[in-house]
Amino acid sequence: MKAVTWHGKRDVRVEEVPDPVISEPTDAIVRITSSGLCGSDLHLYETLGPFMGEGDVLGHEPMGIVEEVGPDTGDLKVGDRVVMPFQICCGSCWMCDQGLYTQCETTQVREQGMGAALFGFSKLYGEVPGAQAEYLRVPQAQFMPIKVPEGPADERFLYLSDVLPTAWQSVVYADVPKGGTLLVLGLGPIGDMATRIALHQGFRVIAVDLVPERLERARARGADVIDLGGVDDVAEEVRSRTNGRGADSVIDAVGMEAHGSPVAELGQKVFNALPKKLTAPLMSRAGVDRMSAIYTAIDAVRRGGTVSLIGVYGGQTDPMPIMTMFDKQLQLRMGQANVKRWVDDIMPLLLDDSDPLGVEQFATHKVPLSEAPTAYENFQKKADGTVKVVFKP
Ligand SMILES: NC(=O)c1ccc[n+]([C@@H]2O[C@H](COP(=O)([O-])OP(=O)(O)OC[C@H]3O[C@@H](n4cnc5c(N)ncnc54)[C@H](O)[C@@H]3O)[C@@H](O)[C@H]2O)c1
Ligand SMILES: [Zn+2]
Ligand SMILES: [Zn+2]
Repeated sequence: MKAVTWHGKRDVRVEEVPDPVISEPTDAIVRITSSGLCGSDLHLYETLGPFMGEGDVLGHEPMGIVEEVGPDTGDLKVGDRVVMPFQICCGSCWMCDQGLYTQCETTQVREQGMGAALFGFSKLYGEVPGAQAEYLRVPQAQFMPIKVPEGPADERFLYLSDVLPTAWQSVVYADVPKGGTLLVLGLGPIGDMATRIALHQGFRVIAVDLVPERLERARARGADVIDLGGVDDVAEEVRSRTNGRGADSVIDAVGMEAHGSPVAELGQKVFNALPKKLTAPLMSRAGVDRMSAIYTAIDAVRRGGTVSLIGVYGGQTDPMPIMTMFDKQLQLRMGQANVKRWVDDIMPLLLDDSDPLGVEQFATHKVPLSEAPTAYENFQKKADGTVKVVFKP
């Protein structure tokens, strides 16, 4: 089959790789009809290279049709239309019973000290072959697949794999008080969707980015926007719009490659220039993130407010302003999204034909796998109006 594979910093290719096969009784094989490109893939493309293997298949936002089932996959049937969560989870361990699917005790990558395995996401998360491919082996298929109805276009349900539950969790964790103001930093797919969800729930949203068309998308849905390039100090601007107090809650939907952190950017470049054998162990002990977004979040949240961190960070010793955090009495919640925890909350909005979250028009680019190298490049550079890419294998 054809798949998108990793070969080095900013080097992804489309290659023939062996078809996946059922190797456990709980496996299924899904023929992929749509597969998302995510900001998290950009971390692999740029910064997390030391944890990647040459030829690793990328992608973790899969949707498709069940092609083959193992003997222990419950009521899953060949021909079912399904979306898979980006994390691999069993649905029956202690953590899964709490709804903490990203911590699944059956699939935790213990040798790396990490939580549940993820599709297409480096050695840190189990080096499981990813979903930007024609076919996908789905482990734990007795639990994993989310069955969706026939009829609407794939885009109606595809984002259940990641974007929707991630954005949903970020809003829940932000714990915005009734009538409160939420600040969303970063308007990539995740921040954009978090903005839509928060507006739908009736909150006031102030949204920040530096890419004009991303700001425009948020503005068009009813957010107040701040152009990072147009103000000296985002936190000061937020306070001026919130009676001098700051936002009740802040979502950081930027993560480790934030714009505006020159020192750390240099550090990331030095890391990337070193040989891999050296950098992987070093990187998992060092502070390598570009911290400007989280610093802004801590500054712009009001005293006693909540910061919800959904952007991914990867350093172990990133300096944090703990005095300010303590003094401002902040609440901080974070983590990968526990996808299946939120599906029942989100599904009614997807089954509503008025499409309240605008998922059907959400993707800016629908392209065949063969265009993956260009799509990655344009998504990283924010070129060609790229906000969300969906591959159609
Ligand atoms: N926790 C999870 O489960 C989960 C799931 C999916 C994605 N993510 C993470 O969410 C983050 C966003 O992902 P995405 O798909 O939206 O990708 P993205 O890279 O397109 O979005 C990041 C956005 O932040 C903007 N930005 C950069 N620096 C900024 C700054 N200092 N202030 C404000 N905005 C700034 C960029 O212009 C861009 O629009 C990534 O870190 C990704 O890894 C987490
Ligand atoms: Zn993702
Ligand atoms: Zn589990």
